[in-house]
Amino acid sequence: MSKQAMGVIVGSNRRESINRRLALALAALLADRYDIRFIRIDDLPMYNQDLEADRPPEVRRFVADVAGVAAVLFVTPEHNRSIPAVLKNAIDWGSKPTDQNVWRGKPAAITGTSFGAIGTAVGQQHLRQILGILGMTVMGGEAYITFKPDPVDHDGHFIDDAKRAFCSAYMNQFAALVRLLAPPATSG
Ligand code: FNR
Repeated sequence: MSKQAMGVIVGSNRRESINRRLALALAALLADRYDIRFIRIDDLPMYNQDLEADRPPEVRRFVADVAGVAAVLFVTPEHNRSIPAVLKNAIDWGSKPTDQNVWRGKPAAITGTSFGAIGTAVGQQHLRQILGILGMTVMGGEAYITFKPDPVDHDGHFIDDAKRAFCSAYMNQFAALVRLLAPPATSG
């Protein structure tokens, strides 16, 4: 049977993003069970309702990408104690028109990393609130990852065993939630 698709959205458009590095390491923990698809958000235009009548191709591609996955893992920085504008912009595009809200009903898990001690905790709380309003089932628990010292190398491999074990348990918890809420279709 083919693997279910799981989307990964990184809330950063920075080339050397530490959240992207963490996301690569998390994806590796799930790759035996899921077809992992990184969903691009950095090329989306700024949300503008005037564009709804004829949505730009990047927006149509993004929405199709989200529609095509069973669940979404968000790995995001914190910007000024909230989520980065690039991530909010992508979420807004996916939320409209309301009767086609692409997020509704999908399971989600949230994590993120920063160099600071609180490891994106406040940004993650904002994201949890937004996704809940949009009808995602956001996994409980917390994973605030401090990037000091580096938990992953530049290619996205864990180099910190304790953080690997913690993240592995968090990803297993997410896989259990996805099995419950979006079980793979059985054939025959
Ligand atoms: C930040 N940064 C930051 N860090 C944090 O822990 N809490 C915060 O509120 C903020 N605020 C903030 C605002 C803006 C505009 C920027 C550019 C940065 C620092 C941030 O964690 C750092 O830039 C990380 O490297 C961002 O993650 P990526 O982009 O490397 O994945």
